[in-house]
Amino acid sequence: MNFHDEKELEQYLIRQFEWFHRHPELSYEEVETTAKIRELLTEAGIEVVPYPLETGLVAVVHGEKEAESGPERTIALRCDIDALPITEQAEIPYASETKGKMHACGHDFHIMAGIGTALLLKERSKEWSGTVKFIFQPGEEDAHGALKVLEADVMDDVERIWGLHADPTNAAGVIGIREGYVTAAVDRFVIRVKGVGCHAAHPDDGVDPILAASAVIQGLHSIISRNINAFHPALLSVTRVQAGTTWNVIPAEAELEGTVRTMNREDRILYEKRVHETAERIAAAYGAEAEVEWIFGAPATYNDGRMARLCEKIARIQGMETVPEEDSLGGDDFSYYEDKDTMGRDIPGCYLKIGTGVGRPIHHPAFCVDERVILPAAKYLAEVLMADIGGNC
Ligand code: NI
Repeated sequence: MNFHDEKELEQYLIRQFEWFHRHPELSYEEVETTAKIRELLTEAGIEVVPYPLETGLVAVVHGEKEAESGPERTIALRCDIDALPITEQAEIPYASETKGKMHACGHDFHIMAGIGTALLLKERSKEWSGTVKFIFQPGEEDAHGALKVLEADVMDDVERIWGLHADPTNAAGVIGIREGYVTAAVDRFVIRVKGVGCHAAHPDDGVDPILAASAVIQGLHSIISRNINAFHPALLSVTRVQAGTTWNVIPAEAELEGTVRTMNREDRILYEKRVHETAERIAAAYGAEAEVEWIFGAPATYNDGRMARLCEKIARIQGMETVPEEDSLGGDDFSYYEDKDTMGRDIPGCYLKIGTGVGRPIHHPAFCVDERVILPAAKYLAEVLMADIGGNC
């Protein structure tokens, strides 16, 4: 596929972006999305690698330049592709055609920024050597899609991993980048407090799990102030409390659920330990018993310093503004790609934000992307990847 000029390429990218926006699919249901990505890449002569993935796919572009020194590298760009169960309220001519489903996190933008980058890298393949893998990942919103990609051994030969995310808090084309932790480890807990049910008029006949659970909640909130270093970002939220069926019965059980967000590994381990101890011992003080279920989610994302500086350097050369990536205890399963515990080895990674025009926040029913940012984003990413694989990192 040849584009006569940039205008033509831009129109193509926008047209296809609108198609993806009209056809959102939820996590692990990205069948049409995957077929469309495959169609566009194949049309462009880009190789799709037959990894065993039900949805999502991996493509590769090879550089044709002779490597200057050492073996040829393989690096990867991850673009997530799934949508959210939200009914779209954005007033745009290419709004979602499926009620209850919407690209409200900009993953349609990630798809087209990725495809645009692949097209540019292919067009300029004589200028670089090595291989770039494009991971079109399913199920990011489910927070575990990356694990499906990893199970398919996609990352075995990858030395560095890049990721991007749309950022509606910044003007179109502004690059958000920072060294260090940029998304949090996302863990979940469920606590079952077991007492002894009885008549509400005779609490002395039983053990009240509601009173014990309320003390557990208070105790859990003290972990951050008493156990975690005050300079470390971390939080705990209890988000669900369930107990009882009526007004005159003290139930036998109460259930709490919540999430813990941390940035570094030590705090994560400490939190798990302290949530167990706090819940179990406080419940015991009330004569009740607490059973803690801890569910580890994605770890924190760490932006490699050299890669972050490369992003800034390329932005400067391209005349694009950079801002420090905002602090957030949100999560992204991108972190699995660089995580030693998941991968068996640490892989340097970098997750950057691309301003998509100031507007509604992600996951809002009226979220939308300024389409004019797709081509600049692809051009920027192509430069970053070429510089990285060229060893200028
Ligand atoms: Ni997202």
